[in-house]
Amino acid sequence: MVFSSIEKVQDNLKAHRYIADRSLATVIYLAVSLGKPLLLEGEAGVGKTDVAKVMSAALDTRLIRLQCYEGLDVNTALYEWNYPKQVLRIRLEEGAQRSKEDLGNIIFSEDYLIRRPLLEALQSDQDQPPVLLIDEIDRSDEEFEAFLLEILSDFQITIPEIGTIRAKHRPYVVLTSNRTRELHDALKRRCLYHWIDYPTFEKEYQILVAKVPQVREVLARQICGFMQVVRKMDFYKKPGIAETLDWASALIVLHKDELDGDVVQETLGCIFKYREDISKMEAEIMGKKIDLEKVLEDYLARHFG
Ligand SMILES: Nc1ncnc2c1ncn2[C@@H]1O[C@H](COP(=O)(O)OP(=O)(O)O)[C@@H](O)[C@H]1O
Ligand SMILES: [Mg+2]
Repeated sequence: MVFSSIEKVQDNLKAHRYIADRSLATVIYLAVSLGKPLLLEGEAGVGKTDVAKVMSAALDTRLIRLQCYEGLDVNTALYEWNYPKQVLRIRLEEGAQRSKEDLGNIIFSEDYLIRRPLLEALQSDQDQPPVLLIDEIDRSDEEFEAFLLEILSDFQITIPEIGTIRAKHRPYVVLTSNRTRELHDALKRRCLYHWIDYPTFEKEYQILVAKVPQVREVLARQICGFMQVVRKMDFYKKPGIAETLDWASALIVLHKDELDGDVVQETLGCIFKYREDISKMEAEIMGKKIDLEKVLEDYLARHFG
């Protein structure tokens, strides 16, 4: 079942507790309908990886994930030969009268292949193509990016010992980048592109209520209002939605129904993950440079009168 409209995408994702604005739903709809890879960029924690996860759930298909990192090479991403198994086979064949060529054909056959995510995605033989998540591509090296470009152009690979393997169905491809470096134009050209921004107050409120349903309305509003204020300030690493959800869960465990300066200070570790950011926020609260209660009051008054 493929999405029949943009609204269906939105509804379907929402049923899987993902809140997508119209622009994101549109680009997902187009990516699925046109069979084009979808490139999602944005700061950490804005919901990029989750798009691939909920897409696979909504499309009722498998999620295959390739996590990128510095030094990721083609073997780890595509396939490797099962060397211990090959050696074992050679041992077992000792004394048998098999020609070298025959033995070669045996140990370089599919039985001795270890499929890594990209090959698995190309070879998947389910009815519905899998979702292939290529996560944090900006962390991989440029050579790897060039190799990916090839895969995303042809959806086929050649294994010298076996031959060419072509995808029966093109997987739904989602690439994410935290933009620690710029990606190549050639790769971008292959993809539909969408920038996921930090959420608006309203969007984050919806996400919070969907993900942490125990949260009371007043607390949820205060948390989301606070996050809006914090993200306008200058920090080394601004909190994403993951931090909002963690913080809300922590406040619930601590039986807090409302925010106050003390509890914010005690739980800053849920929001910030760098010592410098925590110190800075502490100083702001203690020095009353930011008067928390006032900030929240003003914010909520402005938004909800
Ligand atoms: N629009 C959204 N709807 C529901 N949950 C979201 C949304 N955006 C982010 N989240 C949640 O926030 C957290 C971080 O999202 P994630 O996809 O890991 O971020 P990223 O990959 O951009 O770093 C996850 O728990 C995710 O479920
Ligand atoms: Mg991610």
